[in-house]
Amino acid sequence: MANEGVMNAWLYGTDCKSDLSKPARPLHIVLLGAPGIGKGTQAEYLSKKYGAVQLSTGDVFRAAKNTPEESLSPAMREAMVAMKAGKLVSDDTVINLVRERKNCLSSGYGFLLDGFPRTVHQAEALKEILVDLNIKLDAVLNYVLDTEEVVKRLSGRRTCKQCKGTAHIIFNPPKVEGVCDKCGGELFQREDDQPDAIRVRLKTYEESTAPLADYYEKEGLLLTITADGTPDEVFHKTEALLKQRLGL
Ligand code: AP5
Ligand code: MG
Repeated sequence: MANEGVMNAWLYGTDCKSDLSKPARPLHIVLLGAPGIGKGTQAEYLSKKYGAVQLSTGDVFRAAKNTPEESLSPAMREAMVAMKAGKLVSDDTVINLVRERKNCLSSGYGFLLDGFPRTVHQAEALKEILVDLNIKLDAVLNYVLDTEEVVKRLSGRRTCKQCKGTAHIIFNPPKVEGVCDKCGGELFQREDDQPDAIRVRLKTYEESTAPLADYYEKEGLLLTITADGTPDEVFHKTEALLKQRLGL
């Protein structure tokens, strides 16, 4: 069951509370990988199995879109523009946003950081935040796949307006066209899943985020997984690696 309490605190910056029982071994994991590779999909599986909460910076920005324009801070307004174009939001904005939500990192349920860090500067900031919280990362899951396959996944993705779950028009089509299988909400195509924005996102990934694999390799945390196959198959590979590395 998704930990709604911690997830809502992350999305809306509210108090971080939950009544769910805490896992005996909370996992602290970073998910790395190109846009559309399936980080969100795998985070859902990991969360179900290990109880850790998916904390996505992209989801925070998308949630802020529902905030009335006049209530948005200047930094958040700038973030919206960058995101729509497929560019990265400034490091300062993202790092401040995560600092403001650091209680969600130390909730006791563990976390699956999805989309943060995305630059070496952000990785350094995360390191400092975790030292303050006395938390050690368990692993960094680095998903890799051919660019062509990634583009197919991204361009066919549909996202639920209500529960934020995803479907894919070819690989995981909804039972009723345009309707989310999980909650009955309306499925839509994210504006940054349009061809122009996809190209910018993939280029930005190669330039700014791919170098993080080396960074975490040096830290001895990197687990690289080829993300081909069905979501179930990718999860089995992930589980096997976590078992081998962490003895789960
Ligand atoms: P964010 O929301 O993080 O987007 P992203 O990294 O581009 O990743 P996606 O969510 O698009 O893809 P995913 O890997 O989660 O794939 P999914 O599981 O949905 O960030 C959005 C924007 O916010 C950024 O561009 C930036 O502007 C800003 N931002 C956020 N964080 C930032 C930061 N730290 N610094 C600066 N800016 C930041 O899967 C994709 C599709 O494929 C789905 O349809 C799914 O059903 C399908 N699928 C999944 N797995 C498989 C499989 N194994 N086989 C077939 N299909 C599959
Ligand atoms: Mg995602």
